[in-house]
Amino acid sequence: MGFTVVVAADRKRGIGKDGTLPWKIKGDMRWFREATTCPDTSEVLARYAMNIGLMDKRTHTWESLTSRIGGARPLPDWTPGARNAVLMGRKTWESLPPRFRPLPGRLNGVISRTVTPGVFHGSHHVWPSLQASLDELGRDPTVKHVFVTGGGEIFKEALARPDCARILITTIDAEYPCDVFLPEFGPEYKEIAISPNLVEDGVGYRFRLLERDSGGV
Ligand SMILES: NC(=O)c1ccc[n+]([C@@H]2O[C@H](COP(=O)([O-])OP(=O)(O)OC[C@H]3O[C@@H](n4cnc5c(N)ncnc54)[C@H](OP(=O)(O)O)[C@@H]3O)[C@@H](O)[C@H]2O)c1
Repeated sequence: MGFTVVVAADRKRGIGKDGTLPWKIKGDMRWFREATTCPDTSEVLARYAMNIGLMDKRTHTWESLTSRIGGARPLPDWTPGARNAVLMGRKTWESLPPRFRPLPGRLNGVISRTVTPGVFHGSHHVWPSLQASLDELGRDPTVKHVFVTGGGEIFKEALARPDCARILITTIDAEYPCDVFLPEFGPEYKEIAISPNLVEDGVGYRFRLLERDSGGV
């Protein structure tokens, strides 16, 4: 099944340091939570278009993104019988503070060669490869979208796959000391939506949506 990569990166494509995130940007944490939890991706885009001016790059307006809805309304983050999955490398899973995992409202999947596959701690699934996780999730009719959420090792494999249909990237206009970086990805990913510059604690950032040419989630 097609999947979406979700990542935040600084000016030098840095994404992590000492097993954790180098920054704390609440607006980005909210975007991550809402985008990965809501089973209807177009609702998320419409809401962000309306609230912050996320713009369709193809039309240079935000109206195209909001055309589906008549006005601002609460984002449904739970649809009975449907949920999204978030897949992450074992190190990213371990980087989440125990009180925040599993990430609520989403099926949490961990990719690892060293942890025994199966349901682990009763809270999340462990798969021995990205392929195995996508195969199994593709057979689960309750899973609406799959998000690959890092870290560096998993992004490298995910971005090179033809079934990586979308990238939701938050670009942070600052430089942090980092030891994990987002791999380069090719021109087959085209930017289709972009937010205005948002600022939090003096740090600027933007949400961007890229779609793979042949993609479509
Ligand atoms: N800025 C962001 O958007 C973002 C997002 C997520 C994470 N991060 C940061 O990224 C850093 C972690 O990234 P990382 O690259 O060090 O680690 P990672 O990708 O999270 O996890 C690496 C682990 O995943 C497993 N793995 C990787 N490729 C695999 C494969 N092909 N098959 C099976 N298992 C595989 C292995 O686990 P085993 O060793 O158990 O086999 C490997 O050690 C942290 O600093 C985190 O905070 C940033």
